[in-house]
Amino acid sequence: MRILTGLQPSGRLHIGNYFGAMEPAVRLQDEGEAFYFMANYHAMTSTGDPAALRENVRGLAIDFLACGLDPAKAFFFRQSDVPEVNELAWILSTVCPMGLLERCHSYKDKVAKGLSANHALFAYPVLMAADILLYDANLVPVGEDQKQHLEVTRDLVGKINERYGEGTLVLPEARIREDVAKVPGLDGQKMSKSYNNTIPIFGAQKKIRKLVMKIETDSTPIEAPKPTENSIILDLYRFFASEAEQAQLKADFEAGGFGYGDLKQRLFDAYWDYFAPMRERREELEKDDAYVEKVLADGAARAREEADKVLTRVRKAVGLR
Ligand code: ADP
Ligand code: TRP
Repeated sequence: MRILTGLQPSGRLHIGNYFGAMEPAVRLQDEGEAFYFMANYHAMTSTGDPAALRENVRGLAIDFLACGLDPAKAFFFRQSDVPEVNELAWILSTVCPMGLLERCHSYKDKVAKGLSANHALFAYPVLMAADILLYDANLVPVGEDQKQHLEVTRDLVGKINERYGEGTLVLPEARIREDVAKVPGLDGQKMSKSYNNTIPIFGAQKKIRKLVMKIETDSTPIEAPKPTENSIILDLYRFFASEAEQAQLKADFEAGGFGYGDLKQRLFDAYWDYFAPMRERREELEKDDAYVEKVLADGAARAREEADKVLTRVRKAVGLR
């Protein structure tokens, strides 16, 4: 089974991204042949700053490796290091009805948010389909927001195979990560960089402690029992603490006598310890650009071998060869 997913390099990762996307991807690398890439072509639809794009890709590569992506198990590469993906995107676009793309929520949402309605933004799902189909991927783990893009991908496979013959492209399945818990942000809404309520995975201790201290709480006095229903502190704590530790913190909420400052400090300590090994690994990687580059170059070379096989098959089927 071939598993594939792409992550957009779009700035510092937060703990929602970690538990919602990276940690599941790291677990999946043991279940099949994994292809993980950084979607830098896609990121160009939201940034026009070359230095930022380069830096975000470097940062994401380091973060992902620090969080346990194992290059011995997964092919890990930059999307743009296999530029053949653009050829497949072109071939797909010849069977892609305008209406299919016009219906995409993600496109409509981005335009509503003020991104310019250019061709790349419109054609985004076609390139994403090419990302998946170029490697004959079977399983594509993504968040709920990408579900429609996977449907577009499957539609395009149907159209290509109908016109050029069954087996021209492999039909992938989405694995929507419904089972992963939504990580709440500082204000209790879903943690998201668009809500400005995130806690990063990596960063300076003082700064992050300060963020944790900003978690919204009520005005229950120190001595009084604290409500445990809908407590953002308790909701976040469960990602970092054992069952016993969670029960203890809950009991301390209920007993009273602990201020929110104390309770947040315990959440912060648990968070800090949880990411300690990854933080250490990150510091080493940060100093070793050559290693990171080599991982990505090797990943791209291996990915390219697979891409060549598929593209040769597709070129023949459509009459380019
Ligand atoms: P953001 O909402 O901060 O812009 P992205 O949309 O770039 O994050 O998300 C990248 C990945 O992280 C997606 O797979 C998404 O499902 C996951 N993710 C983002 N925020 C959360 C969250 N609060 N809880 C769980 N998963 C999340
Ligand atoms: N569009 C995806 C996102 O924003 C990233 C992505 C690009 C992707 N190509 C992909 C995900 C191929 C899965 C498969 O999260």
